[in-house]
Amino acid sequence: MSTFWNRRVVPYSVGALEFLQNLVSNVRDAVRASSTSDTQDPPGDFSGKVCIVTGANAGIGRSTAAAIFQRGGVVVLACRSRSRGEQAVQALQQMQPASGIMAPPVRSETEDGLEQQFQVNFLGHWRLVHDLVANQASLRRPRKAPAQHTADSDGASLRVIWLTSMTHVGAHLDFKDLQLRKGYSGFLGYANTKLAGILAIKEFQQRMDRCNGRHQQKAVFCSVHPGFVNTDLANGWLTGSDVVPAAVQQIIRPLVRAICPWILVSPSKAVQTILYAASAPSAEISGKYIAGGKVVQPSRQAQDDQLSARLWEASQKLSDTAIAPCFQ
Ligand SMILES: NC(=O)c1ccc[n+]([C@@H]2O[C@H](COP(=O)([O-])OP(=O)(O)OC[C@H]3O[C@@H](n4cnc5c(N)ncnc54)[C@H](OP(=O)(O)O)[C@@H]3O)[C@@H](O)[C@H]2O)c1
Repeated sequence: MSTFWNRRVVPYSVGALEFLQNLVSNVRDAVRASSTSDTQDPPGDFSGKVCIVTGANAGIGRSTAAAIFQRGGVVVLACRSRSRGEQAVQALQQMQPASGIMAPPVRSETEDGLEQQFQVNFLGHWRLVHDLVANQASLRRPRKAPAQHTADSDGASLRVIWLTSMTHVGAHLDFKDLQLRKGYSGFLGYANTKLAGILAIKEFQQRMDRCNGRHQQKAVFCSVHPGFVNTDLANGWLTGSDVVPAAVQQIIRPLVRAICPWILVSPSKAVQTILYAASAPSAEISGKYIAGGKVVQPSRQAQDDQLSARLWEASQKLSDTAIAPCFQ
């Protein structure tokens, strides 16, 4: 009973509440004819900054890439498909970790033998973040202060913003079965990767802070729940995953697609929270979880130091990573 409560009732109730809030906000925006959600102008000047956005050809990644580009940043679009990436570049030119998948109903594995969501949403990004930060640390000459135009006022030259989700409240990380070989549930797999993201950010930050006395590299890590956003990912989950019985999916799909713009946040509005994470003072957000445009407390599990240390060990082993000195 308590498992059912934690994994289903709690996340779906919190989700339903967020849908309701979105509905009210979207109706309000629509009524205010002169200020729709898409014309809001979130803050940020990214001149002199280089931003790598994963999954930048679609959804939140694409809107983030556009928002940073429009604010003077140099954007690197990290996409798995060259042609979809090039289409996104063209769209950017005409006018800124976000790749992920959500709750496929059937379990599948990557060529590395890992559950797909675990690798795409979590371990791939964990390794990317580790290597990027480690690489920067190795390039940095000892004792040289970070250049003013690339560093934050407190000297952090690198910021990692990891897209996670409030669905992390429904997670249960079983280290004996991280790949969900027994009793797969798409939603549990997704929630686990989102909890893992928050834990990883906390661990990256703590390790870097401990090392900072010995190494010149300084980086800021934070995780963001962008809201429930009207993208293919959220649409696909609402209309096609294990949340809805297969028999009724066909019937309700058009209806759900029609109401999505009302109960979900637009990608450009979601970007406001990401831009806050990208531009807020380092001390305010370092190692923190951000939702609704401000730092909030994630679930108790997500604040558990033993859990994050254990996940770090598992990630290191599964990705066969030699941990860089700046994280030791
Ligand atoms: N939408 C929401 O309500 C919501 C809420 C909370 C958190 N998030 C998180 O935000 C992030 C972006 O979600 P979104 O809603 O923008 O999704 P989206 O519109 O479906 O975009 C997903 C992106 O991930 C890429 N991707 C998918 N599978 C991949 C793989 N195997 N390898 C590399 N890239 C892959 C896609 O590339 P292709 O185009 O090549 O498939 C696409 O660029 C995800 O981490 C998601 O969990 C979303």
